[in-house]
Amino acid sequence: MSMIAVDYDGLIPNNVALGQDVRVKRALEKWHPGYIGWWMDMGPEGFQNALVYLRTAIGVDPKGWAKFDYVRMPEYRWGILLAPQREARKIPFGTHKGEDAWQEVPGEYRAMLRRLVVIQGDTEPASVEQQRHLGKTAPSLYDMRNLFQVNVEEGRHLWAMVYLLQKYFGTDGRDEAEALLQRRSGDPDTPRMLGAFNEKTPDWLSFFMFTYFTDRDGKMQLEALAQSGFDPLSRTCRFMLTEEAHHMFVGETGVTRVVQRTCEAMKEAGIKDPYEIDKIRKLGVIDLPTIQKKANLHFSLTLDLFGNEISTNAANAFHAGLKGRFREDRLQDDHQLEGGTYPVLRFIDGQIKNDDAPALSALNMRLRDDYVADCQVGVDRWNKVIADIGIPFEIKLPHVAFHRHIGEFSRTNADVDGKVLSPAEWTHKRTDFLPSEADKDFIESLMKPQMEKGKFAGWIAPPKVGIDNKPGDFEYVKIHDA
Ligand SMILES: [Fe+2]
Ligand SMILES: [Fe+2]
Repeated sequence: MSMIAVDYDGLIPNNVALGQDVRVKRALEKWHPGYIGWWMDMGPEGFQNALVYLRTAIGVDPKGWAKFDYVRMPEYRWGILLAPQREARKIPFGTHKGEDAWQEVPGEYRAMLRRLVVIQGDTEPASVEQQRHLGKTAPSLYDMRNLFQVNVEEGRHLWAMVYLLQKYFGTDGRDEAEALLQRRSGDPDTPRMLGAFNEKTPDWLSFFMFTYFTDRDGKMQLEALAQSGFDPLSRTCRFMLTEEAHHMFVGETGVTRVVQRTCEAMKEAGIKDPYEIDKIRKLGVIDLPTIQKKANLHFSLTLDLFGNEISTNAANAFHAGLKGRFREDRLQDDHQLEGGTYPVLRFIDGQIKNDDAPALSALNMRLRDDYVADCQVGVDRWNKVIADIGIPFEIKLPHVAFHRHIGEFSRTNADVDGKVLSPAEWTHKRTDFLPSEADKDFIESLMKPQMEKGKFAGWIAPPKVGIDNKPGDFEYVKIHDA
């Protein structure tokens, strides 16, 4: 493996020898003011001058890649960092399997590759936009810092994709890089490209669910792209995955702490029945059934990101060697899938059932299955917290057919158990499964900021350990030093 040290001297920290690549360096320097403009307009509202205890990537060595310090977010060093090049790397799958990995864009796949990069790139700024109001209602400085850490890293992920566009895709790459700064989450005229990235993230429980479920879709997509035969994309995604782990940590532990606080408050008050919702809400905590509804919402919205179960685009991208499967390198088969089949859950004659489909066409389905299994791991941990405190309740992932807008099940109204409902039944039962207006209002009523160091809002437990091993009363954000 060849390691290139990170160059921190210029405007754009990088380990891609940008100093020797005048054309790309100029292109990125030209893009930079637009990026900062976007960050000031669409980044965290009200805290651009605060000093935030952030980690910044200073290398790509898995053991010591980050440095923590107080930073004003607009001064964060967004850089271009690729994982080290693996010598003599081969294309690991598809029709070109075994050939040398591409260091330049293969001409025949140029459009397909550009589209993959643009779609990934579009999600990165979108989540920053979705989360921009949350700083004002942070339940603690610790949580506020985590939010901002996720935000600056999503900004860096945008840089990562823009680098690929500027370096490898000429004029159309430059145009795409510009367009990534123009679209806006939820904008009726210029929305972001994918549905879940146009939804609101109105409260902190949504934020934790989003980082748990939707950033995990990001992880799956990055894992699939990290396998790519186009080596610069693979290397970029490998390093992004290092950062992404923290985002899912924020989500998983965030929900854990909400669940924990609810169960503890119930226990203290002698409430055993998790469905005594009014009584539980009077304690100032979020009842478990409402947490379940939030999970139902975010899980189902995220499943839509995997696209159609049967997909020619996915087949083509795999066949071409551009986008692999989840951890392709650990799978034991021919990595070409020309003859195989894969069971796909479909809606046939009014029923949800498995149907074997050509494995190449079913790659979205397969990635989604891997995703669901990955989601279950954290849900089990949430349930352990509930069980340990002795509350009879279990959080469950809803059926994959529930509340879908893309693919096989977009034509059905399935409940959380996968039972197909009539439109009337669905309307009647909808708020049994998804947050009602009253649920949303209640959660919103709890969203009062707690900005005193070491203190936490009453609806969430403190974390077990601090970031960078800091003590409980550490001032993660110096708001007034602005
Ligand atoms: Fe990201
Ligand atoms: Fe992320």
